[in-house]
Amino acid sequence: MTDQSYQPADHYDRVTQAWRLLLGAELHYGVFADPAEPLDDATRRLTQLMIDGARFEPGNRVLDVGCGTGAQARHNAQAFGVDVVGITTSGVGVDLARELTAGEGFTEHVTFEQRDGTDNEFPDASFDRVWILESSHLMRERERLVSEAVRVLRPGGRLVWCDLVRHRTIPFLELRDRREDFATLRTAFGDARMEPLASYQGWFEDAGLVVEQAEDLTDATLPTFQAWRDNAALHHDEAVEALGLDALRAFERSADILEGLWRDGTFGYGLIAASKPART
Ligand SMILES: C[S@@+](CC[C@H](N)C(=O)[O-])C[C@H]1O[C@@H](n2cnc3c(N)ncnc32)[C@H](O)[C@@H]1O
Repeated sequence: MTDQSYQPADHYDRVTQAWRLLLGAELHYGVFADPAEPLDDATRRLTQLMIDGARFEPGNRVLDVGCGTGAQARHNAQAFGVDVVGITTSGVGVDLARELTAGEGFTEHVTFEQRDGTDNEFPDASFDRVWILESSHLMRERERLVSEAVRVLRPGGRLVWCDLVRHRTIPFLELRDRREDFATLRTAFGDARMEPLASYQGWFEDAGLVVEQAEDLTDATLPTFQAWRDNAALHHDEAVEALGLDALRAFERSADILEGLWRDGTFGYGLIAASKPART
């Protein structure tokens, strides 16, 4: 028998809401000026760094690669008068992003499509800005993400990217010894692969961009994990109801594991702002 009341969007909405309780209003890492400041202030600071790098101009056409539920797409359209196309491989994500955007009355300037960032199929030079916030670690073909993003950017346009990065190669034996930790991270956040900030910089430059800013935000993002643990304790019952106890435990354990990997110099966080030279 099927449950007639079950609606995928409702389910996703509930799960997304639970993630918001854990990760804050914006579903990404925070950049802390002070470890004690609220997580929402810190996640807004990360978004602001991306906005500073993007230097939006009214009327810009923006591609948001890995747009989640469209929070930044809506914010950027409203705050800067830009038109945003958000893409994600998640069909459920597209439905929810459209639903939320219709609810806020932005459908004229913000649209969402189910497309792959590593093969986006948009025409060459069809966007003024490309925005890639914390989605690249989920894409295996990193260089294709970069070449596609740069291909669709018009000469004179700007690209901003931020994500988790890897500071060192993890030897095979260490990977084997820590396989349970890495399995826990996969359960909580999906199949991720981190690459060094310098590799991203090199890929963007090889694809023809001028990298103007390549910033290591590892220290500034470290307090994110304590903030996540605090939220997990504060919203324990609601999170268990939406996600289940096992998922909440995996999330809490992941915060500990990631904090350890940040502290021992394995993983961290980086941001890049770059421009595509105008044709002369
Ligand atoms: C961690 S979320 C980040 C969402 C959003 N940028 C934010 O910060 O709130 C990662 C997003 O990347 C999307 N994604 C994963 N692989 C993708 C791919 N190959 N192409 C496009 N989007 C992808 C996921 O569906 C999800 O929307």
